[in-house]
Amino acid sequence: MSPFKKDIPYNELPLLPPKNNLETTKILRKTITASRALANLNGAIINLPNPQLFLDTIHLQEAKASSEIENIITTNDELYKSIVADKKVEDSAAKEIISYKEALWHGLKQLESTSFITGNLCIEIMQRIRRNTSGIRTTPGTTLTNEKGEVIYTPPSGENVIRKKLDNLELFINEDDALDPLIKMALMHYQFEAIHPFSDGNGRTGRILLLLYLKMERLLDVPAIYLSEYIIKNKSEYYKRLISVTEKEDWESWIMFMLDMIESTSQKGITRLKEITELMQIMSDEIKTKLPKIYSKDLIEIIFKLPYTKRQYLVDEGLGTRKTVGNYLMALENKEFLRSIKVGKEKLYLNYRLMEILEKN
Ligand SMILES: Nc1ncnc2c1ncn2[C@@H]1O[C@H](COP(=O)(O)OP(=O)(O)OP(=O)(O)O)[C@@H](O)[C@H]1O
Ligand SMILES: [Mg+2]
Repeated sequence: MSPFKKDIPYNELPLLPPKNNLETTKILRKTITASRALANLNGAIINLPNPQLFLDTIHLQEAKASSEIENIITTNDELYKSIVADKKVEDSAAKEIISYKEALWHGLKQLESTSFITGNLCIEIMQRIRRNTSGIRTTPGTTLTNEKGEVIYTPPSGENVIRKKLDNLELFINEDDALDPLIKMALMHYQFEAIHPFSDGNGRTGRILLLLYLKMERLLDVPAIYLSEYIIKNKSEYYKRLISVTEKEDWESWIMFMLDMIESTSQKGITRLKEITELMQIMSDEIKTKLPKIYSKDLIEIIFKLPYTKRQYLVDEGLGTRKTVGNYLMALENKEFLRSIKVGKEKLYLNYRLMEILEKN
């Protein structure tokens, strides 16, 4: 029997891997369909003419969904405006989302040089999300509560206890074993959340680790997927599944949940990618016809990099002087390819058809 009690620090949290047989037929079947969907998404991305092109937007969408789980909510419009405009970001939710995205980028960059996910990397990520220099929890008193304020889980307490469990997790993640990486990913996410090493930001850090893990295992070369969208849509089930592992060792339902997250976000990702690349082709053709003098491949890429653009971006890409590119943008607006708005003294141009795709669920 598990010695777990909701309101007592769960220092007995078992180390990984679990003793149970995880590779049941049900799980193995789902592992196959989830892997297939993920591989299809990976293929779709690497076959793009420029796989990096949509990354900013995809990561911002992921950051936005992940932050929403923490009730940090802003609109896409506000978010992208804040990013593109010179004016300092005032919207606090947008600021948080930008920090999250920077934390994700930091993680990906670190992973490129070290190719390991370490406890230290987790700390660095959390610090960037929270924009502070805190570390592992040292004082007792961290509990997880439900909406009614009732304690549902008390994570392990004591810096040493937490460190030992993180060390075990680190070993487990980086160890070469026979477990399927997607199953490992599910185990790792539960364990990280159950250790709950920080006083805040554990959920967001854990969700970033999922993407890092996919990259580390080379399941997704370009980390262009937004898993958090699935978690936020299935938030209560997500919480329920975590609790069931703790209380009943119900790994199977948890792993199934995580595999379904991979499968359905991959499928959605493919659809969305298709919609965006199709729109890009359509607008490309339309601009070629209606504005042949200003059309260029670079111009199209710029207006698809983020839903908002501005003169400076075109100048930076060498499309012309400020005056010339200003005329380009005006022409694009006149033909209703873009819509301009003023932010402070600056004019931003919205690719509203791209935004419509991002807004669609
Ligand atoms: N019963 C549970 N056992 C273990 N972990 C849990 C449990 N319930 C929730 N969690 C995890 O705790 C996270 C919340 O922790 P915390 O507030 O530190 O993170 P956050 O990033 O600030 O918040 P959020 O995840 O809500 O965005 C949840 O996202 C979830 O991953
Ligand atoms: Mg929190």
